[in-house]
Amino acid sequence: MKSFIINYKAYKEGVDLGLDIAKAAAEVSEKTGVDVIVAPPFTLLRESSKMVKTIAQSIDDKGPGAFTAHVSWYEIKKSGSTGTLLNHSEYRYVSEGENIDYARLGKAIDACKQNGLFTYVCVQNVSEAGEVLKLRPTAIAYEPPELIGGDISVSTAKPEMVKEFCDIVKNVSGVLPLIGAGIKTANDVKTSVELGSEGILVASGVMEATDFKNVILELAEPLR
Ligand code: G3P
Repeated sequence: MKSFIINYKAYKEGVDLGLDIAKAAAEVSEKTGVDVIVAPPFTLLRESSKMVKTIAQSIDDKGPGAFTAHVSWYEIKKSGSTGTLLNHSEYRYVSEGENIDYARLGKAIDACKQNGLFTYVCVQNVSEAGEVLKLRPTAIAYEPPELIGGDISVSTAKPEMVKEFCDIVKNVSGVLPLIGAGIKTANDVKTSVELGSEGILVASGVMEATDFKNVILELAEPLR
C-alpha cells in the first residue's frame, strides 16, 4: 500500500479547515485503498486521529518530564497519533549549524520504535538519506528544499536523483522511500511511482486548493 502524507505545516487553512481536510483524507483513503496520512497542527492531533491516520509534524528527542514546550513521543502517542515526521527542511534536527544531529535524531526514532510509533524522516539529498538509513526509520522522504512550495515537482525537476534515492533506500529492507516538494498534479505522482517512490508528501497543493477533496482524490489515484 502506497502512502500519501498531507503536511498542513502552519498554513492558516490547516487550522481553520484542518478537520474538514482530515475527513476528506479519510474518505479518499477508504475509496482508493491508499494510505492517506495527515500531519496537522499539534492542537488538532487528537480530533484528527479519530478520523484518519494522523502524525505529528515533529517531536523532540526528550521523553516526558520537566522539559517546557518540548513535544515528547508520549504526548503524541496519547493523542492517538500513529507517528511523526522528523527533520523536515523547515524544522531540521540540528544542534548547531546546518548539519543534522544524527545522535538526537536516532534517539527520537528509537523512542518512537519502542513505543509503536512510525517515523517519516525528511532529507535534503542522497548523502543525508544514506546516514538516516542507518537509523532505520519507517520511511525516508526526499525533499529538495528549493522545490518546496513551488510548481515544479521533485519528480519532474530531478528524476535521476529521485531514482537514485529510491534505489538506495529500497536496498535496505523495511524502510520506504517517499518523495515530496512541488507535487501538484496526478502526473507528478505517476512519475514519482515510475521512479520507484512508495509514496508522496504534499503541502501547498492541498492547503492552497479551493477544492481540496478533489485534489486529494486526484493525487491519490496514481498511488492505487
Ligand atoms: O512535507 C511536504 C512539503 O515540504 C512539500 O511542500 O508545498 O511543495 O507540497 P509542497
